Order: sequence, then C-alpha cells, then structure tokens
Amino acid sequence: MHNRLPLFLWFIFCSLLNSNLVFSQKTYQNFTPGKIWKDNNGVHINAHGGGIVYVQGLYYWFGEHKIEGEKGNTAQVGVHCYSSKDLYNWKDEGIALKVSSDLRNDIAKGCILERPKVIYNKKTRKFVMWFHLELLGKGYEAARAGVATADKATGPYSFIKSYRPNAGKLPFYAALTPENEKVNCDKPANKSDGFFCRDLPGGQMARDMTVFVDDNGKAYHVFSSEENYTLHLAELTPDYLGHTGKFIRIYVGQQTEAPALFKKNGIYYMVGSGCTGWAPNPARWFKAKSIFGPWEYMGNPCVGPGSEKTFGGQSTHVLPAPGKKNAFIFMADKWEPKNAIDGRYLWLPIQFEENKLKIEWSDRWNLSVFK
Ligand code: GAL
Repeated sequence: MHNRLPLFLWFIFCSLLNSNLVFSQKTYQNFTPGKIWKDNNGVHINAHGGGIVYVQGLYYWFGEHKIEGEKGNTAQVGVHCYSSKDLYNWKDEGIALKVSSDLRNDIAKGCILERPKVIYNKKTRKFVMWFHLELLGKGYEAARAGVATADKATGPYSFIKSYRPNAGKLPFYAALTPENEKVNCDKPANKSDGFFCRDLPGGQMARDMTVFVDDNGKAYHVFSSEENYTLHLAELTPDYLGHTGKFIRIYVGQQTEAPALFKKNGIYYMVGSGCTGWAPNPARWFKAKSIFGPWEYMGNPCVGPGSEKTFGGQSTHVLPAPGKKNAFIFMADKWEPKNAIDGRYLWLPIQFEENKLKIEWSDRWNLSVFK
C-alpha cells in the first residue's frame, strides 16, 4: 500500500505555517511612536483618528480605515477594528462599520467619516459608535454627528442616524466667567456666538469629536462646533443614542479640535489641538472639577524638542493604562494626507507633575514607565 505519512507530515507543517506558529509575526514589547506598527498579519495598523474601548480583558481599537493616496482622506471602506490583550500586539478584527454602496445613504462610500469612538452601554448591553460625518460630495459642509450600534464589540455595527445636535437648545451654565458669558442671540457678542445663533434652529455643527463615559454611567459627546471656533460638551441620553439638550461651550472662539477626555482622582482632563487641518500645531489641555465646567485652559502639555508641534501629531484619545492606577496614554495621529494609509500613531505616556500634565517624546517605551 502507498505510504501516506510524508503527505500527512507536509499537511501538518503547512497548517502550522498558516497558523503563525512557525515563522510567527514578531511580538512587540514596546511602543515605537511614529514607526510602522504591524498587526497579527504583518500589515500596518489601519485605524486612524481612533479610540479604544476596554471590555472583559480585551482592548478594542477603532479607527478610520484609510486607503492609499489622497483619496484615502475620504471613507472608501469604513471603520476598522483591532483587538489586543497587551496594547502592543493587535489582531485584525476586520471592518466594524462598512460604508454603504447606496450613494443616497448618509454613510455612502466616499463620504468623510472621521474620529470614530466606541463606548459600551451597560444597561442596553449595546456597543455604541459615534463619529464625525460629512455627506458625500459636500466637503466639510454637513458637520454632523453619526451613530451606529452593535451587539458585539467587533460589530458589525448598524448605522442609525446622523444629525446636528441640540437644535433649539441654549447652553447650560454651571458658572459664568468673563470668557464664557451667556450667549445673546439678539446681539451676538463675537463671531463664534454668531455661528452658534445661526445654527440654533437646525442644530449645532459637530466635527472633530470624542465620547466619554463617566463613573456614574453618563456619557458625553465633545465636538468642535460653531465653524470649529468653539468646543461643545454635550450630555447623551441614557441609551447613548441621542443628545439630551444639556451642553456647555468650552474656550469660546479659540478653535479647539481633536478633543480627548479622561478623569483622574475626580478631576476631568482634556487634551486637544488647534485648528490647522492635517498640519500639526501645539497641543492644549484643560481641566475641570465638574464635567459641566468651568474648564480651565492650561496651555501646552508637551515639553522638549518637537513640543511646539505635538511631535508632528494631533490628539485622538487618552487611554487609561491597564492594571495601573492613574496611568494614562496619550494617543495621537501623525497624518499623511498625500498617502493617507501611511499615517502613523504616536502613543506617549502622560506624566503628572503637581497635577499638571506633561507629555515628552520617547522613541521607544513600554508600560513599565508607569509606577
Ligand atoms: C483636522 C482634523 C481631522 C480632519 C482634518 C481635515 O484638523 O482634526 O480630523 O478633519 O482636519 O483637514
């Protein structure tokens, strides 16, 4: 009889090769900001303008899937998801939210879909994804917030709606400060107030954004509004699928983009950027004792060479580090608008000095920097 053993051994060898047990993809033990960062398939991670949600021992990173060239600045594919146990090594989980081939759909292929962020709603047990949406062929004119949900972290996410938030609603004022006086739509006091009043009937513009869940389960949507002049921080409904109408305006008229929020010892912190498109500018940070403010402007958290341009990046998210108390990772994008897919990730540790934020460049680092 024919001997099938060599064939069988060859089959086993090929299976091992396929499953990455032989010649496996190298595992990372450090962060190397600005360098190519490969996933489990050896492909540079494609999750730009992203954010991370932690559920049951796994981190899920969601971001804009970009393609090559300038066309990659528009959404040709959707939102990409990766999972990780250790934050260094990421498994490709595929496209969590797909753009639609129906060109009349809000999230039609070729629209602009930016800065997707996912949060988990413990009550409804749904994963909720918010993003900045610009309708197909309309440049950055629509300035809408979009929302999608899924039963599983990795999706598939179903698109629900997109709109401009808080139509007909005036801001909430926890405290009035000279920088944040009541907006008077009979006589707008400045340019930004003018845009606010113009958009009052139809809803406020919503561009660069993040979402944040507080310890009590309440969620907030923070977005660049008023032609990017002023940031809004708006409460979401208990199901996280809409806005309650309660919101504040932050740093009126000062053009803050790329917001990322976190909380440490009961104090709220926010890092953001200025407004210069894909080109880097100085980062800025704020702090507040209450989520509804007042938010105090604290200047640039970055120090050392490159700090005046956020080391070439722009903030996207701040992630509490695993298993450590009061340790946070600053996540930024180094955009490549001419070849969008080549955008790089700058992750750096956040240091606290007497309750002041400090972000320094590091070529290579790992989680052991956190005490
Ligand atoms: C940036 C913004 C990005 C993208 C870009 C387009 O300022 O942070 O998310 O919208 O502008 O030029």
